[in-house]
Amino acid sequence: MCACVLGYDRSVLTDEAPTRDREALLVEFLAGIDEDAVARRYREDDGLIVLPSLLPAALVDEMAAEARALAPTAYRKRVPFVRKAAAVHHHPIAALAPAMHALHQSPSLIAFFSRVTGVSLAHRDPGEAHASALYVYDEEGDWMDWHFDECGCPPGDSFSTVIGLIDDSSSRLEVETRREPASAPTRAASIHTTPGTFVFFCGARGYHRVTPLGAGEVRMTFAFTYIREGRSPGGIYDARLRLGNALIYFGLGHLFRR
Ligand SMILES: [Fe+2]
Repeated sequence: MCACVLGYDRSVLTDEAPTRDREALLVEFLAGIDEDAVARRYREDDGLIVLPSLLPAALVDEMAAEARALAPTAYRKRVPFVRKAAAVHHHPIAALAPAMHALHQSPSLIAFFSRVTGVSLAHRDPGEAHASALYVYDEEGDWMDWHFDECGCPPGDSFSTVIGLIDDSSSRLEVETRREPASAPTRAASIHTTPGTFVFFCGARGYHRVTPLGAGEVRMTFAFTYIREGRSPGGIYDARLRLGNALIYFGLGHLFRR
């Protein structure tokens, strides 16, 4: 029987462990985190949280193996002055990368960040290509220019996560928590996304970029977005979301696809 599904070779991926095992790992790990300190940091640093090792090592290892297996299938895109890198969209991740998908869907993780932010958080529509994504930087000069995350929701209603899986690079994720108004206090960080690093910020107002990759380096991150409960893309936001998915990340096939 063919092990290939939608062009992705399932045989190179990790065996599926029961989702509850991964969730149990996360529950146990989150119980050991000083949640009050993380919430304090979130308030003091203008909505930016950088945790060098939020996640259990076993889960990080499993996600890194999934990233290596999916990377050859990533869609490479070069948009002059904007971005050069490859990406795998949500649907193959949901089908073929059980550890990444378990983290994205984790009830304990979304509850943790809902408590930390004081905002009732929800997942994006699973039909969206960008509901979660694996980003692959593996050619010299791969980068992403300064941008806000286009979540298809009004600013202030989306929260981005970036999880380091593989990173031996000199490339950095740089974040400024806000740029407007110019007089507003802001926090800035330059982050080496080593395996297990967990970055959380308000993506629709947090300005961020990925600096260019050096020769022979590799950087892979898994990312997903939480949105404020009850919000969903609509009107101009939905159109911009689809356009961004198609032109910058996953190709024109995603312009009209749900
Ligand atoms: Fe982004």
